[in-house]
Amino acid sequence: MFYLTTAIDYTNSAPHIGHAYEKVLADVIARYRRLRGDEVFFLTGVDQHGQKVQQAAEKEGISPAKFVERTTYGFSKLWDKLGVQYDGWAQTTDPRHKACVAAILTELKEQGQLYKKTHSGFYSIRQEQFLQERDRDESGNFGPVWGEVVEIEEENWYFKLSQHTDWLRNFLEHHSEIIIPAFRKSELLNALEKNTGLDLCISRPKERLQWGIEFPFDENYVTYVWFDALINYISFAGYKAAPDSGLPDFEKIWSDRPVHIIGKDILIPAHGIYWLCMLHAMGFTDAQMPRLLVHGFWNGLGGAKMSKSTGNVVDPDELAEKFSVEAVRYYLMRDIVTGRDSDYDMNRLVMLFNTELANELGNLCNRALNMSQRFTGGVLKHGGPLTGDDTALQASLAESTSSYQTAMDDFDISKGLEALNRHIVHCNQYAERTKPWELNKDPENKERLATVLYHLAESVAHASVLLSPVLPDAAAKLAAQLNLPALTHLKLTDLHWGLLPDGHVIEKPQPVFPRILVEPAP
Ligand code: MSP
Repeated sequence: MFYLTTAIDYTNSAPHIGHAYEKVLADVIARYRRLRGDEVFFLTGVDQHGQKVQQAAEKEGISPAKFVERTTYGFSKLWDKLGVQYDGWAQTTDPRHKACVAAILTELKEQGQLYKKTHSGFYSIRQEQFLQERDRDESGNFGPVWGEVVEIEEENWYFKLSQHTDWLRNFLEHHSEIIIPAFRKSELLNALEKNTGLDLCISRPKERLQWGIEFPFDENYVTYVWFDALINYISFAGYKAAPDSGLPDFEKIWSDRPVHIIGKDILIPAHGIYWLCMLHAMGFTDAQMPRLLVHGFWNGLGGAKMSKSTGNVVDPDELAEKFSVEAVRYYLMRDIVTGRDSDYDMNRLVMLFNTELANELGNLCNRALNMSQRFTGGVLKHGGPLTGDDTALQASLAESTSSYQTAMDDFDISKGLEALNRHIVHCNQYAERTKPWELNKDPENKERLATVLYHLAESVAHASVLLSPVLPDAAAKLAAQLNLPALTHLKLTDLHWGLLPDGHVIEKPQPVFPRILVEPAP
């Protein structure tokens, strides 16, 4: 089973383009793995507890439960709109998740992994955690990422993280496949050095935070939001679930190494240190440790961090309304290299859609389907002997498909799309050279015309399959125009030359990628 998860989004504010990117990325990977023939379980969801939610609800004068009900709907509605198709939905107020967190806490306590102690120190309200000396910047201050910092003395529950860090260091050193891309591993190992000897505070007294999962053995405390949230990856996969819970079979879901997709800001310490150590403490073996696919950030123009105060936060819902879901999905997958950052730029969104989809692919579809309709009554014939142009086109398709597959296996969607685009450009050049519109003028060329049109239409058929993880709706429209709905059920291994049978009749073509027209700036 290929088990894929994303981070669960905080429900204290509305989804932005960074959230949308991660969910679309996961959706594309899930769809691609299905195309490869893998059995896939894709989990995403929302992080509903914590001080930020409690504060946001207080501000509005409503209960946190009411507040998260509304914001959660905002996320799920957007994923539906963007075509993000998940198999499991994680929301941390779900009683089944709470029961799982409670069971894990009880077990860890019984194993002597938890203890209570009083600590006095600096606490960041924004990040909901105690700060260490190493969190100060060069001038000795706690920087703006920590928000308001207060000095408090508090008794809390701690998890013996320090007992697992030697294992973690050794494990990471011997398993280079765990952190993707690889350069993030050295950052993690460096951070681990600084973390040695520290345990993790995993409770918050109810006096200051009520909106969380109560400790099963100490009713005065709720669970630290990260400890609660990380467990979603196993609780919603059926870990320790009752047989009638409606959750999946954990053994089946967690059979191979799962892949967790996360942003670079939550690798250290949350996923790279806390989560792997938590799993180790729970008895997960090295072979069961997940892989962490760490993606980069979408920033504003010029690399500026997106923030409400700068007013440069991009709303994916608005973008989809303005430019179409296809344009948004294509842009988010095409204009960032997985693992690296990118600057959001509306002009590039329009340019990439218009160049690669409306012009290149649109032109190919138009030529293949329209000319077949006009010149041969929509009937595709395998045609006659092949020329060098034909064999070169078939070789280009084979090369593109193989590069696409390598890139997609490496989670590099942009490179996969680039490979596909290469073949589409090749097809348009082939059309320019073979000139079916000229061939049509002389009945003597009937057989040659059929061969040329077949090569173009067959390329559209393959392209629609390869494009389907990124643009499933457009791919289905292309399959319908080719009059081959079965294309949408093909696997990568079915992609061989001759998908369109001899004598196949296509449907009336319609433009699938209408050019985006932008009004000139005033
Ligand atoms: N709730 C935690 C995650 C818990 S996972 C057990 C959280 N939530 S978040 O809403 O702040 O972020 C959710 C995901 O969106 C994270 O993976 C984060 O890295 C990602 N992104 C947030 N802003 C982003 C960009 N500007 N660009 C790309 N991804 C970004 O962290």
